[in-house]
Amino acid sequence: MNERRFSPSQAHKLDAPERRTWLPVADVLSILDLHSGYIAADVGAGTGYFALPIAKAVGETGRVFAVDAEPEMLARIHSKLAASGIENLECIAGEASATELSDACCDLVFLANVWHEVDDSSAVLAEMHRILKDPGKVAILDWRTDVEQPPGPPIEHRITQDNVAHALVSAGYTVRSISYVGPFSYIVVADSAD
Ligand SMILES: C[S@@+](CC[C@H](N)C(=O)[O-])C[C@H]1O[C@@H](n2cnc3c(N)ncnc32)[C@H](O)[C@@H]1O
Repeated sequence: MNERRFSPSQAHKLDAPERRTWLPVADVLSILDLHSGYIAADVGAGTGYFALPIAKAVGETGRVFAVDAEPEMLARIHSKLAASGIENLECIAGEASATELSDACCDLVFLANVWHEVDDSSAVLAEMHRILKDPGKVAILDWRTDVEQPPGPPIEHRITQDNVAHALVSAGYTVRSISYVGPFSYIVVADSAD
């Protein structure tokens, strides 16, 4: 594990009420343009900040796979599920480069605040390609490099939106949009095919 990897001991920060003001879930859902029946993988799902709202948005005919390498994070999602009434979310213990999901099972692969933590981005891109349907959509949300912390990781750990877009284009994706969300984050959305 590298020093950029998020520590489960900091999990409470992901559910801090003020986070909802500077990282508005509704804005992200709108950019993701989710449809009823969508199958989505939230890779590096953490405490389910996005995974639970995505599960609601895709409806009971849709499904969300919340993938995380840390069992402690998945346990936090589990503990929220019963109270939420959500039944279309499945927690999966896995690495971003080895999610344990089936081939071509997802309409959307979403990584939020994870890209800057991965060691081998080529392996993650290959895994995204493997689990994504064709056509399919990827969305990578991460920290802006031009805004000082706090919140967020040190500036030197961050990766620009242009760098993310370039990695996606190099892997064969078509970048559809690059947007800012709140004051600290960007999201790059790309399609696997035209
Ligand atoms: C900063 S948290 C973000 C959580 C969530 N996406 C959010 O924005 O609220 C990063 C999460 O990604 C997970 N993670 C980091 N690197 C990973 C990897 N290579 N494979 C799977 N999970 C990873 C961490 O365990 C952590 O739960």
